[in-house]
Amino acid sequence: MRKKIVAANWKMNLNLEEGKSLVDGILAGLPALTETKQVVIAPPFVHLAQTAQQLQGKANITLAAQNCYSEASGAYTGEISASMVKSVGAGNVIIGHSERREYFKESDALLAKKTSQALENGLRVIFCCGEPLEIRDADTQNEFVEAQIKAGLFHLTAEELKNVVIAYEPIWAIGTGRTASSQQAQDMHAHIRNVVAAQYGKEVADDTSILYGGSCKPSNAAELFSCPDVDGGLIGGASLKADEFLGIINAMMSC
Ligand code: PGA
Repeated sequence: MRKKIVAANWKMNLNLEEGKSLVDGILAGLPALTETKQVVIAPPFVHLAQTAQQLQGKANITLAAQNCYSEASGAYTGEISASMVKSVGAGNVIIGHSERREYFKESDALLAKKTSQALENGLRVIFCCGEPLEIRDADTQNEFVEAQIKAGLFHLTAEELKNVVIAYEPIWAIGTGRTASSQQAQDMHAHIRNVVAAQYGKEVADDTSILYGGSCKPSNAAELFSCPDVDGGLIGGASLKADEFLGIINAMMSC
């Protein structure tokens, strides 16, 4: 049975003290998670060791880095390797967020390498895709997202893909307060699942969790997560306040 997941992406927010209180607040109100209803927290790198300690011994709530580098080690000043992420106690990494693609010019080829590095080091990858507004306006979002999935993931084996979660985040919905309608999300998620099925077969596609991201909040989460192909969310702004993030977790629990 495929997993439902609500993942927090703090982006470049919160100092260590603020991060600690946020995690304390989430843990204080956390419902009983299960193997198929999980939570992931992706703070900035400098928080990882502290957050790992806070999550120690807690079931089905795990830690993610927001990025890692494509090489194993070496002279790459300022970068963080997948093995370092793993060694600090994080089991997941976000790869290919639209902000990385846009502001840091991360290419499909680089993201494919990062994905392999992460998987080789035993991390689960949350692989992001999603179209900008002009592509949505031109109604070519299906082709656009399909190309991102093929370029970033199709070099993987079916076995490797089991450790990949896909996050569909339409760029026009990220941080804008403008959410995709549940129909738009469902249509794209079904398309992504078909794209995965065409390459890896229906069984693999049915087991792949596909999260929605983009202005997801407690008031719209339940409707989005009720769509048959929407398996949870990647949450930015609303993950920075314990009560809002818990509201979204509770929406997942009720779906
Ligand atoms: P948002 O961000 O929830 O603030 O729109 C989502 C994301 O970029 O992961």
